[in-house]
Amino acid sequence: MKPGVCCRSSAFAGALSAILVLSLACQSQPTASLPPLVSEPPMPMTPSAAMIAEGKALYAKSCVTCHGPNGEGTALGPKVAGHSALATKTQVRNPRGEMPAFPQLQLSEAHLEQLASYLASLAPPQTPAQQWEQAPTENIYYWMAMAAVKANDTPDAQHHLRDSLVYIDKPEYRAGVNKALDLLATGNTHDAGHEIEELVGTPAPSGISLPRFHIVLTMRALKARDAGEATHHLKHFQTRTALKETPTPVIRALDFIAKSDFHEAEHEVDKLLRG
Ligand code: HEC
Repeated sequence: MKPGVCCRSSAFAGALSAILVLSLACQSQPTASLPPLVSEPPMPMTPSAAMIAEGKALYAKSCVTCHGPNGEGTALGPKVAGHSALATKTQVRNPRGEMPAFPQLQLSEAHLEQLASYLASLAPPQTPAQQWEQAPTENIYYWMAMAAVKANDTPDAQHHLRDSLVYIDKPEYRAGVNKALDLLATGNTHDAGHEIEELVGTPAPSGISLPRFHIVLTMRALKARDAGEATHHLKHFQTRTALKETPTPVIRALDFIAKSDFHEAEHEVDKLLRG
């Protein structure tokens, strides 16, 4: 063994242990003034102005191109102003559709909380009648459940929430729906309503009737060639309309669905959509 190597390495070892001792000394410094090293602080109930300002800056950096300067939406992405924190956090980590995902490495948990509180702080735009019809199917279910809660119709709210579970695969949303169902089961419609509001992220478009929700869902089911689902919603539409007689397009559409003639059924349902 060459002596030089030996000496160099022992010098190196000496330097290393000096660093170790130093760093150990640093670690044993009193940390009373520092916050404890827990994972992530829970989201404060009311986000501070500073938190929202941070979120705004992050939004301008990462989201503005697709969602517009005030979250109003662009050709590249829908409006996001007023979205609930849950909706934003889920979409950002695990997006549906075309939006790129932002993993932790790119956007930390703390930054995501800031972003989510910024978007939640913006005034939610009213959903115009034409736009809501493009909303994801599960949102329509939440809105229907919400309408039922407001009408104090617990069984109907439970029905729509259970139906929504068919469309939801994200665990956060499933948990939210199950929580709302639990609250409804104990008669706590008030909190169930809040839970559903959190799920949907945006307020229900005002002035849309339950039959209209059902007819939009009928059309979607027809486009997906799902006879069972289309019949289900058409029957709901039928019982929900105040009309004494079932409108002819409903009878015809049910008939076409029974014959698996989805194309003709779509024409009939289209008349109801326009009517
Ligand atoms: C490259 C364009 C693009 C970027 C960048 C982008 N988004 Fe999106 N975002 C989309 C699109 C497209 C959708 C619609 C996804 C769908 O449902 O098909 C979307 C949907 C959303 C939604 C759900 C809206 C709804 O109505 O359900 C939220 C919330 C959202 N984005 C937040 C963000 C945030 C926060 C950022 C920044 C961290 C961001 N987005 C960055 C394109 C983008």
